[in-house]
Amino acid sequence: QIDRAADALSRLVRDIPDFPEPGVVFKDITPLLADPTGFADVVAGLASPGRDRDGQVVVDKVIGMEARGFILAAPVALALGVGFVPVRKAGKLPHATYDVAYELEYGEAVLELHQDALAPGDRVLLVDDVLATGGTARATADLVARCGATTTGFAVLMELGFLDGRAALGDVPLTALLTV
Ligand code: PRP
Repeated sequence: QIDRAADALSRLVRDIPDFPEPGVVFKDITPLLADPTGFADVVAGLASPGRDRDGQVVVDKVIGMEARGFILAAPVALALGVGFVPVRKAGKLPHATYDVAYELEYGEAVLELHQDALAPGDRVLLVDDVLATGGTARATADLVARCGATTTGFAVLMELGFLDGRAALGDVPLTALLTV
């Protein structure tokens, strides 16, 4: 599964130089999303840390982080047969939230989670497109902890290894389909 997903990524993700600002090479996943076989392969790869060796589902919820994380986490949740929970940027969620400030690869922002989205003891898989500095992942894991739930894994399409975002994750196991 992971091999097929890595193959789809290497064929269908394109580099866009100087986006969103000079000096940044943006990883554009839209060709991957437009390819149903490649998309299915990466969803299966991202879902794999949500199962044990016997194939039993070992998570209660899948979180996706706005915005590209939503596109990937929602089908992962359906593949595992568990609920999807959005973590959103400030001011977007309508009910009572927990919020956390964090630093991006370029910029600063606030992430929010509905206070009633997770139950104490829930096991949660985080899904996003890219792990860069790890700030988004760390902030999301903090929000999960505020609910009394546990982040049991973090799955991404691509890890930017040179930024060492892995270090921000502490003990949470990372599944990266591709490391660049
Ligand atoms: C990007 C990406 C990850 C995050 C990774 O999201 O989708 O969520 O940055 O960076 P980090 O590891 O340094 O935190 P961005 O905030 O650009 O939002 P978008 O998906 O709405 O474009």
